[in-house]
This record gives sequence, structure tokens and C-alpha cells, in this order.
Amino acid sequence: MYRSNNCGELRIAHVGQEVTLAGWVQRTRKMGAMTFVDLRDRYGITQLVFNEENHALVEQANKLGREFVIQITGIVNERYSKNSAMPTGDIEVLVSTLVVLNESLTPPFTIEDNTDGGDDLRMKYRYLDLRRNTVRRNMELRHQMCLEVRRFLDSKGFLEVETPCLIGSTPEGARDFIVPSRMNPGQFYALPQSPQTLKQLLMVAGFDRYFQIVKCFRDEDLRADRQPEFTQIDCEMSFVEQDDVIETFEEMTKYLFKTVRGVDLGETPFLRLPWAEAMRRFGSDKPDMRFGMEFVELAETLQGKADFAVFNDATYIGGICAKGCASYTRKQIDELTNFVKSPQVGASGLVYARVEEDGTVKSSVDKFYSQEILQELKAVMNAEAGDLILILCGANAMKVRKQLCELRLLMGSRLGLRDKNQFALLWVVDFPMFEWSEEDQRLYAMHHPFTAPRPEDADLIDTAPEKMRANAYDMVCNGVEVGGGSIRIFDAVLQAKIFKALGFTPEQAESQFGFLMNAFKYGAPPHGGLAYGLDRWVSIFAGLDSIRDCIAFPKNNSGRDVMLDAPSFVAPEQLDELNISLHSPVS
Ligand code: AMO
Repeated sequence: MYRSNNCGELRIAHVGQEVTLAGWVQRTRKMGAMTFVDLRDRYGITQLVFNEENHALVEQANKLGREFVIQITGIVNERYSKNSAMPTGDIEVLVSTLVVLNESLTPPFTIEDNTDGGDDLRMKYRYLDLRRNTVRRNMELRHQMCLEVRRFLDSKGFLEVETPCLIGSTPEGARDFIVPSRMNPGQFYALPQSPQTLKQLLMVAGFDRYFQIVKCFRDEDLRADRQPEFTQIDCEMSFVEQDDVIETFEEMTKYLFKTVRGVDLGETPFLRLPWAEAMRRFGSDKPDMRFGMEFVELAETLQGKADFAVFNDATYIGGICAKGCASYTRKQIDELTNFVKSPQVGASGLVYARVEEDGTVKSSVDKFYSQEILQELKAVMNAEAGDLILILCGANAMKVRKQLCELRLLMGSRLGLRDKNQFALLWVVDFPMFEWSEEDQRLYAMHHPFTAPRPEDADLIDTAPEKMRANAYDMVCNGVEVGGGSIRIFDAVLQAKIFKALGFTPEQAESQFGFLMNAFKYGAPPHGGLAYGLDRWVSIFAGLDSIRDCIAFPKNNSGRDVMLDAPSFVAPEQLDELNISLHSPVS
């Protein structure tokens, strides 16, 4: 028996008992002739005492290094000076035998909540990083979340079904990761970007309610909330309309907040915000609604009112009001200007107006605008003494809105309005069906090509497809798209028309999606569903800045696993076997 107890469970009630513990040496302290060792495992830390009476044992303890794996036997004692910050802080174990099970090299960073290890080092030695409480707790939260998801969905009659990882290409908008087939020379599988088509086939199969906690793979540019492989809570339901799906998953969300996060979201249904309104008011299809600072359109107030071409020539002028920021220094304003002009935001400049204590408005465009107009600006912006008005404009309304959105989020963060312990949930609905790509001169599906249009827009497919709204919905929490889905097309004729609008020839549609369109000829029920991003949920629940911290072995921003050193080159023989030849030698 390696242990009778773990390192987190001994209490006053155990005093006098002989116990055997095993774990890692967190640290050792010599105090006079005695030595104290903090012994750690997943469950906690227990203080061990090596008493001066057993000199040889103290000597042995003094040789222990950090992260040595040891086993001890001893008697549980009540501590003389208790540590109320530790669950085991009332006791210590007076050691009688010590066995070193394994030595350890000195770890490259401290295994503490506040480690001295930088990101790269921690990723390279992720197995050591995972020993840290903060990281492990995120994994525990993830586990609990999955457990509760399964409990909830099971209670609603959902069946968990595994779908394959080696499939054909799924059109979700990102690039596929592809896998060569040795047995079918020159042919490739694709790893699923999501099990979208497969779950629809399960509906044709009559499974009625499906879910799966499933790995998805997308070869896309990475960000704090994007990994090349991530996990979805993927769900699909038959004989449902949008309201049914929304109600089911709103209930699940409330259940998860209650059971996993201890937060009661109340009875009120989440706001359902049409996409066009979200864009107009917040410049985003995933608005952070923890705070206001809504956009005010200023064309009427400012256009044609002065000889200021920048505004007069703009298609869109929008402003936000930052409460209490009139005292911003020149340097702070310059910082904001540099931010909006940075390549990732891309605005051409920033106009500001401060509302002084006496109510007058002083702006960066004072020489163009009279105080009267600036007072009108103050009024439409609902600004008060001490506020700072920030204005962006440009030729492309959608672009300016997105830029203003970035500025709004920055100001929200600066003003402390984005509290991680506050949760603002909503649905964004009525997305456009299609997005026009200037570059490719064609329409793309905004969600995916299986999304049904809103019933009242269905006829537009023959006349004005770009005006169609989708029967789709995204769930947004604190400015993060945590999930998204839609009601699906289950009529082969409409599906064929959508493929046509997307620029597929009937042959292309047949070769890529023939399996689905054929299946729809065998009695497809009306169906719809959604998928949540598990990693995003967990990181919101844990208050993390990146989903990396709730993934056991994540990739870095270049898509590399620095611990496994993957991706890597493979032996030429392996490539030969797969019938792959590299065109040019890679160095
Ligand atoms: P969608 O592409 O919106 O929909 O994905 C669903 C959810 O998955 C999460 N997500 C990601 N999380 C981490 N890294 C990524 N690279 C990443 N990409 C997406 C997001 C997103 O809301 N098949 C459809 C769902 C459906 O229609 O039922 C789909 O995959 O939280």
C-alpha cells in the first residue's frame, strides 16, 4: 500500500493515527535540529516533521530536493502553531520512516500558484505546470462542467453518439487538417471542423436528440480564444423550431452556471438581439453587454455643419461616451489615437471632445465646429461634465463600427466595466444568410450551408439571396461567442438552391454533399441544433484570459505543441509509404 490517506484530507480528528502518505516535495525548511517538509499531491499539502530525536531521518530529509517523490509513515499530531489558510493546517505528521520513491531534477520554474516560469517554459514542461494548483483547478472545473453537461442532456433525453475523426471535408469556413490515406494512394481524409453533417444524418436516422463532447479541428489563425483543436458540446434535435432549441440551451446554461459556477441567472429569458441591431449599437455580433457605452450615430449632428471634410465625406460617423474621462491627458489621448490607428484596428484617426466642468465642450475639432454644434453633440451623446466623447468615421460603415467596437472594449476595460465575476448573456439572432466576399466576388454562408433561412425570407432565395436572414442564433457571454447553431434545411430542393447561391455547380454540390442530399430524400425530419465551445465556457467560468489555460496540452500561437515538438518532419520512408513527395526540400 503506497498510502493510507492523501495529502489534503488529514484533520484534527485524525490526531494520534498512524498514516502513510505519498507525494511530491513542495519545499523543505530546516529549523534548528528539526526539518519540515511540505508534501504535495493533487488533493493538497500536508506538513511533515522530522524530529531531532531521529537524527538519521533528519539527515535523510535534509537531502530531499524539490519535486522528489517520497513515501512516509508517521503519526498525525496537532500543530503547535496552526495555519488557518490550509485545510490541513491544524495538523502535521511526525515522520518515522521515509522512502524516496524517485528523485527529481530541479524544476525549471517554481511549482507555486504564482510561478516564476514564463509562458514558453511552462508549455515546454506542461506536465510540471499542471502540478500547479491554479492550472489543475481549471482542469477540475472542465471535468465538472463535462459531467454536468452529460447529466443535464441525459435528463432531457439526449443520446451521446461518437462520430468519426477521419471524415471528408466539412465546409465550416476554416481550412481542414488533412490526413493521407496509405491504403488509398493520393487520397486524404479531413479531420472534422465539427460533426455538422454527421449529426444531421443522425437526425435522419431518427436519433431525435444527439449530443457529443467532441474534438474539432480547424486550421485557422490562432487567437486567445481559438485553438487548432478544441472541444465542442455538439447538439442536435429533431422536430424543433428556433424557440425550442433556444429554450433547451438557455435552461442548460442556467443549470451550468448554478451547479458549476454557483451563479443564479434568474428566471428571465436571455435577451435576443437581432444581428443588425447588435452591429448598429455595438459594432459586433458578440457584444459585451456587461456595460453600456453604446454607439451614437452622429451624421445628423455633425455632417454638413462645418467645413470639415473628414466628417462631411464620411459614410458613417459614430461616437461613444467614456464617463469621467475628460481628465485624460494629452498622452492618454495619444495612446488611444495610436490604438485606433494600429494595424489590428485600422482607423484613420480619432476625434475627441471633452465636457468641461462648466459644461462647455472642448474638442480636437474646435476650429471647425461652433460651441453650439458641440453642445448638440454633447446632448445627443448624453454626455455630462467630466465625460470624454470619442468619435470615429469612415467610408465603410461596417468597418468603422468594428473599429469603434475595439475602442469601446478598450475603454470598458480601462474603466473597470468588464468584471470577470459578472456575466452578461444574450442570443444574437437573425444573422444574414450570406456574406459577400469582394475578394472572391461570391457569396459565402455566414454560418454554414445547411442553415435554413427565416421562414418569411425563404422566397428571397430566387430574387435577392443577399437580403435573406438566417434561422441562426449565437449565444454570447461577456463579449465571447460561446455557442452557435441554426435550424437546418431539410428540404433537398431548397438545399440545392442554397448551394447554387453559394456558387456550387450541381456536380460540385453532388460530389461534396451528395451523401447528405441523398439522405434527405429518405425522410429527413425538421431539425436544428447548436454547438458550444467547451474551452470558451470553461475559461469564462474560471476567469481566464486564454482558453489555453483550460486545455491540458494546448498549442501555442503558431499552432505548435512545444512540449511534443509537433508538428515535425517525418522520415522519407514514411512519406513514400503514403505516396507523398515534398516538392521542395524543407530546411
Ligand atoms: P461554430 O463554427 O459557430 O458552429 O462553432 C461552435 C462554437 O465552437 C467554438 N469554436 C472554437 N473554440 C475554440 N477554438 C476554435 N478555433 C473555435 N471555433 C469555434 C465557439 C463557437 O461558438 N457545426 C456548427 C454548430 C451548429 O450549427 O450546430 C459549428 O461548428 O464557441
